[in-house]
Amino acid sequence: MYQVVWYGILCTLFILITSSYSRHDRFFSDGISTAEIIAGDVFFEITDPVELEYTYRVRPAKDFGAPFNESFILKNAALVPVSPRYACQNINNQNDVEGNVAFIERGECSFKRKTLMAEKAGAKAVIITDINNANEEFFIEMIDDDGEEDANIPAAFLMGKNGLMITKTLERLQKQYAIINLPVNLTFTPIHKMNHPPWLGW
Ligand SMILES: *[C@@H]1O[C@H](CO)[C@@H](O)[C@H](O)[C@H]1NC(C)=O
Ligand SMILES: *[C@@H]1O[C@H](CO)[C@@H](O)[C@H](O)[C@H]1NC(C)=O
Repeated sequence: MYQVVWYGILCTLFILITSSYSRHDRFFSDGISTAEIIAGDVFFEITDPVELEYTYRVRPAKDFGAPFNESFILKNAALVPVSPRYACQNINNQNDVEGNVAFIERGECSFKRKTLMAEKAGAKAVIITDINNANEEFFIEMIDDDGEEDANIPAAFLMGKNGLMITKTLERLQKQYAIINLPVNLTFTPIHKMNHPPWLGW
C-alpha cells in the first residue's frame, strides 16, 4: 500500500518537473523571451541556395513605405540583387525583380529613392544592405531622407555582414537570386533555436 502511494507521489513530481522544464525551454532562454528581442524587427529565411539557408533579421524603415503587416506574406519569392546595385536609377533586371524582393546596396542616393525605383520595377518589397561597412553591432535606422512622394511597398534594412555573405555567395554560385520566405514568425521560437547565420557571432 505505502509503495503504491510513494509511486504515485514520485510520478506526480516527475510530471510536474518535466512539464515546467519544457515550458521554460520553449519560451525562454536566460529569462528573455524571443518576442522582446524581436521588438519591431522582421525575419526572413532563405530556402535556396543551401549555403544561405538561415534566418535573417531586418529592421523595417521607420517612416516611409508600406508596413510589414498581416496582409504582407511572401512565400518562395526571389530575393534579387538589382542592377545597377545602388538602384538610384531605373532597375535593369526588371524581369527578375517584378513580383519579388529587390536586394539593394546602401549609398549614392536616399533609401526612399531606392524603394521607389524598386516599386517602379514591380518589386513587392525592398531589402537594403550595406556591404562595405559590415556593421555587426547595430542596424541602420532607415528614415525618410528626401521628403519626396512616399513609397507604397515595405522596405527594411539588413545587417552588413549578412548582406555581404548573401551577395558573395550568389556571385560565387552565379545565381541571379535566392529564394526566400518573408516574414517568418519567430514569436514563439526560443532564441537558441533560431537558425542564425554562423558568421554572426550570436
Ligand atoms: C497592410 O498595409 C497595406 C498597405 O499600407 C494596406 O493596404 C492593408 O490594408 C494593410 N492590411 C492590414 C491587415 O492592416
Ligand atoms: C506570430 O504567431 C503568433 C502565434 O500564432 C501570433 O500571435 C502573432 O500575431 C504572429 N505574429 C506575426 C507578426 O504574424
